[in-house]
Amino acid sequence: MAVTSNQKKTSAAEPQETGGSGFVPVSPFDIVVFGGTGDLARRKLLPSLFHRYCDGQIPKNSRIIGVSRSAHSRSEYQKLISDAYHEFSNEDDFDAKKWAAFSDMLDYYSIDVMDSKADWAEFASVFKGAETKTRVFYLAMPPRMYANICEGLKAAGCVSDVARVVLEKPIGTDYESARAINEGVGKVFRENNIYRIDHYLGKETVQNLLVLRFANILLEPLWSHSAIEHVQITAAESIGVGGRGAYYDGAGALRDMVQNHLLQLLCLTAMEAPASLEADDVRTEKIKVLRALRPIAADSIETQTVRGQYARGTLPDGHFAKDYLTDVDVNQSETESFVALQAYIDNWRWAGVPFYLRTGKRMAQRRSEIVIQFKPVPHSVFGSDTLVNANRLVIRLQPDEAVKLWMEIKEPGAGGMRLKTLPLNLSYADNFTVRYPDAYERLLMDVVRGNLSLFMRRDEVEAAWKWVDQIHAGWEAVKQRVELYPAGEDGPRESGDMLANNNHTWNSAPILRGKS
Ligand code: BG6
Repeated sequence: MAVTSNQKKTSAAEPQETGGSGFVPVSPFDIVVFGGTGDLARRKLLPSLFHRYCDGQIPKNSRIIGVSRSAHSRSEYQKLISDAYHEFSNEDDFDAKKWAAFSDMLDYYSIDVMDSKADWAEFASVFKGAETKTRVFYLAMPPRMYANICEGLKAAGCVSDVARVVLEKPIGTDYESARAINEGVGKVFRENNIYRIDHYLGKETVQNLLVLRFANILLEPLWSHSAIEHVQITAAESIGVGGRGAYYDGAGALRDMVQNHLLQLLCLTAMEAPASLEADDVRTEKIKVLRALRPIAADSIETQTVRGQYARGTLPDGHFAKDYLTDVDVNQSETESFVALQAYIDNWRWAGVPFYLRTGKRMAQRRSEIVIQFKPVPHSVFGSDTLVNANRLVIRLQPDEAVKLWMEIKEPGAGGMRLKTLPLNLSYADNFTVRYPDAYERLLMDVVRGNLSLFMRRDEVEAAWKWVDQIHAGWEAVKQRVELYPAGEDGPRESGDMLANNNHTWNSAPILRGKS
């Protein structure tokens, strides 16, 4: 695909951000948020833009234009966004003077994007006199509306060379619908102007995966089937689906989390070293992993997948939690709020290494991590009575960000050769005091800067859907049961059994009682 004049090759290493203190300046820009009064805009996008404004990254004369169906005056919209900030964001980050200046950048436009009589030409007047400014259209709307909005924008002449579009996940509900959305958007925007967002890629600790793997020589010789027994990728949440029931019940954990966030984490963990951090170098390595993922055939579906749904239970903080059906307000549902998978990557590096993926709502605690379980030493010189644990690397992505390498050391003192397993601990909290920017802060500014490295290319999204679709088809074919688990526990027993069949166990972290 041709690179248009406003684009250069972009790299995840650029700009050199240092938690907000060092950055590449940008020219004033316009960002239009479709779904400007919605949850994502109020909770994440606008607060993130405010933080970047406070860091001095959003120049004067930039504009943030909320768009939605409901009628609001500019000042009403400014108030709505300010109220949302006080409701959802950290008040410690609030500076009234800066907010007043930021608020001055906010504008609002009302249009019903699904109405065939929508006056897009009138909407285009928003850009009068701003023809040369970078223009970002952020579609924080249901994906079935993406093509319509893009067509409207094109018909109104809003899609200039400097226009970019940001697509929120989920892009479709399966391969076919994703392909149709990508086609529709692709008729209006070139691939290099389409930013498919996966907010996990904007997390500090997820970007640190690239640094950990490609800036430390000692890991690479061990990073394959020759030294690694298995890999675990967990994204556990303590929250339920309350408030998003209608969407979630139609999606389930496989579509909501695995198709995007977990498969992206798997790609970053398993991919070969890219030639550079330029967007297409990284994305090309990721797609190779997705293409090498072995489909889970119908005859393996029962041994390699577990579906679960939370029943009522007691959370670690002592609170009672309702069951899934009550949360989504239905009498019956086969939708999974938990999924565990045993996947294989059929290539030279990973032959035979199980990659266990697990995600769920209402689990014991919020915890996302990647665990690299190394093989045991080939022969113990310590005698058969001494247990020698295999090394384990735990990359904790959230909430207590850290990299821990569990190693064997000699326990000092009498008693001969007693071994103890202790971690080399690279804890973020112990080493850094900067504020960790929200994932959206980095990603929004990457769009403005034209940096595509942390966004998904069309072929990645479609390959991920194909893999997920065949699991869904397998579930239907064998009528895979949805196992119940009590809210506040780490999924159904069958998820542990799946690993136990291979003599493996999920990494268990101590439960932080009293915390969610
Ligand atoms: C979203 C999912 O993409 O990610 C949500 O739709 C989920 O269901 C969320 O709660 C988790 O994100 P984070 O950043 O809190 O781990």
